Amino acid sequence: MTPETFGLIKLLRYDAYTTYDKICNELKIDRKRTKDLLKYLSNLQYEIEEHPSLGVRIISSPDLLLPEFVCSGLHTRLFGKKIHYYKKIGSTNDVALKLSDEEGILVITEFQSKGRGRFGRKWVSTESTAILASLILNHKLKVEGLQKITLLCALSINEVMRKVGLSSLIKWPNDIVVGGRKICGILTEANSRCVVCGFGVNVNQSEFPSELTDEATSIRIETQREHSRIIILQQILEQFENNYFEFLQSGFHHFLEKIKDYSFSLGKRVSVHTGKKVLKGEVLDFDERGRLVLRKDGGGIRKIFATSMVSIQNQSIAQHSDRKGGTNP
Ligand code: BTN
Repeated sequence: MTPETFGLIKLLRYDAYTTYDKICNELKIDRKRTKDLLKYLSNLQYEIEEHPSLGVRIISSPDLLLPEFVCSGLHTRLFGKKIHYYKKIGSTNDVALKLSDEEGILVITEFQSKGRGRFGRKWVSTESTAILASLILNHKLKVEGLQKITLLCALSINEVMRKVGLSSLIKWPNDIVVGGRKICGILTEANSRCVVCGFGVNVNQSEFPSELTDEATSIRIETQREHSRIIILQQILEQFENNYFEFLQSGFHHFLEKIKDYSFSLGKRVSVHTGKKVLKGEVLDFDERGRLVLRKDGGGIRKIFATSMVSIQNQSIAQHSDRKGGTNP
């Protein structure tokens, strides 16, 4: 979106007409250009009423994650200071991994045709209802372990969900659930140039396909009202950045207690699929590397990396993504 278009949006009001003269004068454009910009806004799903003498006013506007809106009023130093916005792409993670190594860049989209989750699962979402975003972080974090970044992101998003009024919990290693249903999934990946932390948050879906209704939920479903994706994204970026800087300064162990306080998995019986073996036991703890500490049935402790598939026993599955084989991931 050009500064002119953004300027026009700022001039338009719901409760009064803005005259063509005012638009032309303030934006220093002619009538023809004004008409072109209004047409562009209509294509972006703005509903605009035009009156031959009074001018124009907005009837309704879409909740699009346009960079100008996300950046305006965003209180961060690094995260989201540069945004790459796409109306539709394959996967924000794929784009971010190819894009740049500049820390803090955010890739966002209204719709993903190839959204991905862990273990090659699909991540599906209807257009302009979810937050689908990937944040570029420093490649040196790989040394720290991607698991810590995933949990840090989960903790940050969980804190925002709590502010919205939800009793959300972190399901190790990468989900946030409400009442056992998934409201957010996180996928952290890396290449030689950067670490990419991708998150999908279900915000304004009013329903899910029947095969997902037991597994997925949204902020709208839980609170019975629509929410501004822009405001929620801004809060996520601010919270995540605060936690991230604290993590760089003080380390990960500092966050462990909070992660445990909000854990859905702690104390639960789980099955852990590690390659060919299936281990059963109880979730005892999480360690300073973000690993799950399992008390094995029959005795012994085992530390589990996020590369293993962990399923909570006697629990309906809270997954938003399609499962490719495997049971109860
Ligand atoms: C999972 O449930 O296993 C993680 C899902 C992560 C989905 C997000 S949506 C934005 C980003 N782009 C992707 O393709 N995946 C992540």
